[in-house]
Amino acid sequence: MVKPKILAFAGSLRKNSYNKRILNIAVEGARRKGAEVTLLDLNEYPLPLYNADLQEELGFPENASILQQILLEHQGLLIASPEYNGSLPAALKNMLDWTSRANGELKIGDCYRGKWAAIMTASPGNFGGIRCLGHLRDILSIMLVHVLPLEIAVSRVDRLFDGDSSEMKDESMRLFIESLGESLAEVLIKSIQTEKAVK
Ligand SMILES: Cc1cc2nc3c(=O)[nH]c(=O)nc-3n(C[C@H](O)[C@H](O)[C@H](O)COP(=O)(O)O)c2cc1C
Repeated sequence: MVKPKILAFAGSLRKNSYNKRILNIAVEGARRKGAEVTLLDLNEYPLPLYNADLQEELGFPENASILQQILLEHQGLLIASPEYNGSLPAALKNMLDWTSRANGELKIGDCYRGKWAAIMTASPGNFGGIRCLGHLRDILSIMLVHVLPLEIAVSRVDRLFDGDSSEMKDESMRLFIESLGESLAEVLIKSIQTEKAVK
């Protein structure tokens, strides 16, 4: 049986992040469809702000190299990111920038090219963080990632959880988010099967 590997991470560094919570819901959906999912917390891989001079003087940061290796081991990306001032948080953009760079044998974009991604966002605001998704989609597309047409913005997310609880109270929204994880797993299974068939 084909078991696609998905890397799931949030663009928020916050412990009780809503985006981490919706990410976990989508992960359940992906696992139910047979995907092997690795949950990654960007807090565990702190990176300096991207500066090409650093690379020249100190070499490629160890955490950026580790993240590149982790990315290379996965075919899919499941990303939940907050919207910061109409775009994605600097921590997420910085991570994408570092890991997109050439490093040793790796050429620019090697960690991303040809992968599939599903993206979502959550906000206590009325628009649910939707503006960050357009930016994230553009960035991933430039890195030649196939981003699923379905994307989810969860508005008024603070009303869907009790305090720090990870249990989403709105059943239909929970199922919708799970379905995004399921769709990513399904498209990956199909793409791996097609790849095998043409070989
Ligand atoms: C610097 C900053 C900028 C923000 N800008 C927006 C915004 O443009 N749109 C929005 O809906 N929420 C905005 N917010 C509120 C976030 O949506 C809210 O803090 C959310 O809980 C962050 O996601 P998290 O819970 O996953 O950390 C902003 C928050 C911060 C800290």
